[in-house]
Amino acid sequence: MRKLLRRLGIILLGLIVLIVVVGAVAYIIGEGKLNKVYTIPAQSISIPTDQVSILEGKRLATVWVCTDCHTENLSGRLLADNPMIGTIYTANLTPGGELAKWSDSDVATAIRHGVSPDGKALIGMPSNDYFAMNDADVSKIIAFVRSVPAVDNKTPRPTITTSGKILIGLGLLPPQGLAAAYIDHNAAISRPTANVSAGYGKYLATTCTGCHNAAFSGGPIPFAAPDMPAAANLTPGGDLAKWSDSDFIKFFHTGITPEGKQIDSKHMPWKSLGQMTEDELKALFLYLKSLPAKATGKQ
Ligand code: HEC
Ligand code: HEC
Repeated sequence: MRKLLRRLGIILLGLIVLIVVVGAVAYIIGEGKLNKVYTIPAQSISIPTDQVSILEGKRLATVWVCTDCHTENLSGRLLADNPMIGTIYTANLTPGGELAKWSDSDVATAIRHGVSPDGKALIGMPSNDYFAMNDADVSKIIAFVRSVPAVDNKTPRPTITTSGKILIGLGLLPPQGLAAAYIDHNAAISRPTANVSAGYGKYLATTCTGCHNAAFSGGPIPFAAPDMPAAANLTPGGDLAKWSDSDFIKFFHTGITPEGKQIDSKHMPWKSLGQMTEDELKALFLYLKSLPAKATGKQ
């Protein structure tokens, strides 16, 4: 009996040592990922200044949910305060923030690559969704960002807890947590042109993947607030298989599904996404219908 206990004790001790060692190694890897310096070539991009482009940039910033995170007036806010990960504020993008000192190329690099001018990865900025954004869209969004009035709001840089660094080291944070580490920065990008096609819908659907997952099969959203419902299955394996084009468009204008469910725009940002044009929504629906049917939550 005593021998058995001693053996169990040794096994337990071994396990604890193993966990501590794995944790320490993951922590070091996590720190490395956070401190990695990226060299991104300057983006040659010219920013329009006319009112029509600025208004279109505002619509795009809504559709690509920039305003959900950075707020309506772009002054930034507390995005997440989770002891497992850390405290994440979104940046103040108005001339009252740091962006006033950045070149347009710096801003484009932050949007598409998730890298700030010091070469460090931005934390919690979902550039993996924006990597393929075409020049026309990026330049109009920047035109809008440059046009807003200055707001004096100091948003601290995100701070990551020890367990957050371990999660990053183990690769367990969703990609938007540290997008620069997940983007193949040298990949040749095919930037699609706007038309009513599944191909263009695929480009627009990048905004959905953060919540509905890369396979669009839905399920619980990783690291979401406890009151957040599971995301719906958008593949033909879910309710959408029975929706018509007009059901889909109506949903993005009202938040009401053909099944009669009213969806809260704080859970599913249909009000922002509903600023897509009817052609964009049609393209998006064409793409979702072209996906292989998946069971909910199956990737
Ligand atoms: C999921 C929330 C989220 C969304 C959506 C989002 N951002 Fe961000 N963004 C952040 C966070 C968080 C930071 C701060 C990152 C840091 O300081 O490391 C940030 C930083 C930035 C920065 C760098 C600014 C600075 O001072 O460091 C720019 C530029 C930016 N975002 C632009 C955009 C634009 C444009 C869009 C839409 C196309 C967008 N963001 C969408 C969360 C978001
Ligand atoms: C911030 C997270 C988030 C984003 C981004 C998001 N969704 Fe959702 N979506 C949800 C959640 C959560 C639900 C389920 C809400 C509920 O059940 O109350 C949902 C529900 C839906 C529904 C209702 C489906 C049904 O069967 O009832 C549709 C349609 C939908 N989303 C489409 C999209 C599309 C298309 C995009 C991208 C253009 C998108 N969503 C982006 C979180 C999100």
